[in-house]
Amino acid sequence: MDYDVLIIGSGAAGLSLALNLAAHLKIAVLSKNTLTEGNTYYAQGGISAVLDRADTSESHIQDTLNAGAGLCDEDAVRFTINQGRKAIEWLLESGVPFTRCRKKDPASEIQAENAVTGLHLTREGGHSHRRIAHASDATGEAIETTLLGQAEARENVDLLARYIALDLITTRTLRRNGNNRCIGAYVLNRDDHQIVVIRARFVILATGGASKVYLYTSNPDGASGDGIAMAWRVGCRVANMEFMQFHPTCLYHPRAKSHLITEAVRGEGGKLLLPDGSRFMPRFDSRAELAPRDIVARAIDHEMKRLGIASVFLDISHKPADFILSHFPNVHRSCLQFGYDMTKEPIPVVPAAHYTCGGVITDLRGRTDVDGLYCIGEASFTGLHGANRMASNSLLECIVFGKAVSEDIMSRCQVEDMPDIAIPAWDESRVTDSDEQVVITHNWDEMRRFMWDYVSIVRTTKRLQRAKHRIDLLQQEIHEYYKNFRITSHLIELRNLAVIADLIIRSALLRRESRGLHYTLDYPEPDPAMAQRHTILDPLHNNVW
Ligand code: FAD
Ligand code: SIN
Repeated sequence: MDYDVLIIGSGAAGLSLALNLAAHLKIAVLSKNTLTEGNTYYAQGGISAVLDRADTSESHIQDTLNAGAGLCDEDAVRFTINQGRKAIEWLLESGVPFTRCRKKDPASEIQAENAVTGLHLTREGGHSHRRIAHASDATGEAIETTLLGQAEARENVDLLARYIALDLITTRTLRRNGNNRCIGAYVLNRDDHQIVVIRARFVILATGGASKVYLYTSNPDGASGDGIAMAWRVGCRVANMEFMQFHPTCLYHPRAKSHLITEAVRGEGGKLLLPDGSRFMPRFDSRAELAPRDIVARAIDHEMKRLGIASVFLDISHKPADFILSHFPNVHRSCLQFGYDMTKEPIPVVPAAHYTCGGVITDLRGRTDVDGLYCIGEASFTGLHGANRMASNSLLECIVFGKAVSEDIMSRCQVEDMPDIAIPAWDESRVTDSDEQVVITHNWDEMRRFMWDYVSIVRTTKRLQRAKHRIDLLQQEIHEYYKNFRITSHLIELRNLAVIADLIIRSALLRRESRGLHYTLDYPEPDPAMAQRHTILDPLHNNVW
């Protein structure tokens, strides 16, 4: 299978790139599940951009830098935010049905006067203005299905569902000397179980995040950090993996898996309560419920541990029922399925792993350390998010960098041909079918449990060392298993998650301070000397800062 461009991932990042590339290029877009399945589809709150006359790009930039706790790369922040308005216009032209202002809603009427585009803008933590464009409370579904519809209409784009990439192919993996260039990937077809070679002049990782490394997460099952792990194996540096974001409000119920309650509920007036009905966030931050996520999640964790309670509560029932139903129809419906009516009562919530702020290091064109290999979206580290991503900045990053990579590829494809190198077929001659799938499920459960217990919202050096010891053993075991048994998608994800867990633990051990999402009881304060110092891990050399 030969293509000009191989895009691994069909979320907001991968699809924006595919749609921005010229029609004469032959493009493959892979998804390891159905084409819509991925974090994008589940995004609720919206996408941030400066769309109101009372707002400014400078204010959005400063809010992002503040949320990032001194670790954002200012060039990346300015680059992304300055293109916010264009990104929304492109999505509107593509047909995304963003919610518009309605005359009945008094807050909306004010917006109608001010908003440049006539869109209703909501508010989320860390933002000092209303600047979140949204499609009701299911923004991700609207973006994903609209962009996918556009991609399906393109004759030059092959959309390949249930194809899972297991490893990248580079000149170095083929033991060629010289420049390390990516020329394709080995990919498992999950339906016929064959591993095929897909060759391409340019390969893009748009594989999303890695929050599935934790026991409790808002992410769907596929968020196993495959792209970060694949890039690491072929020599790309990764940065800031200790900054895993925990969303403060996931529904707490024994049967509710990955059920997020959007931050926009707090943006529209929702309050966090203890079981006795008292508010606690004002004790932690003057911005109270709308403080950045690291602060809110840590405050909830603190109160849960202090009082020995299983959850706190999110209450918006003081607002009129029709206001709640019109702003949050999907959240309301899903809470009702679990017996909670948010128009009438507080709902129980807990924090859960949500977003991978670190990732594969790229420049502002999306280029990684390996020639011909790009990375975009949640898998990448562009420098935008620093030590804590601000709400709704990540969909924006997907759209802006999808476009940036398309421009870079368009400028290179005139002059660069596919390297003429034979790629060997995948060798399965020395493996057999596993008779012990239980090893995979056991290791998967064990890893997600110790990551939650030892490496989540509050860390200590001792807990991190315990986790490091366990991940070393697990990696050995998984490596043995991988060498001897035929590959399945579960094994691919487990192997990748183990790499991710190792990268998170190593990065967390290196950061001897508390900053943004990384909080350790052994070093509870930020160290001014560490401001602007990213944790960079390099697979080819020792750690560098
Ligand atoms: P994804 O959308 O996760 O897509 C990843 C793609 O890669 C999928 O197609 C997957 O199948 C494919 N893939 C992965 N590995 C492989 C492999 N090995 N082989 C082949 N294919 C592979 N952000 C906001 O800005 N605003 C929000 O309101 C918001 N709400 C959120 C709500 C929830 C519940 C969640 C989970 C996240 C939310 N986020 C939000 C974050 C945001 O949705 C994601 O960061 C963003 O959508 C990531 O897009 P992506 O294209 O990088 O990856
Ligand atoms: C949410 O709707 O709360 C999620 C927003 C985000 O993760 O950016």
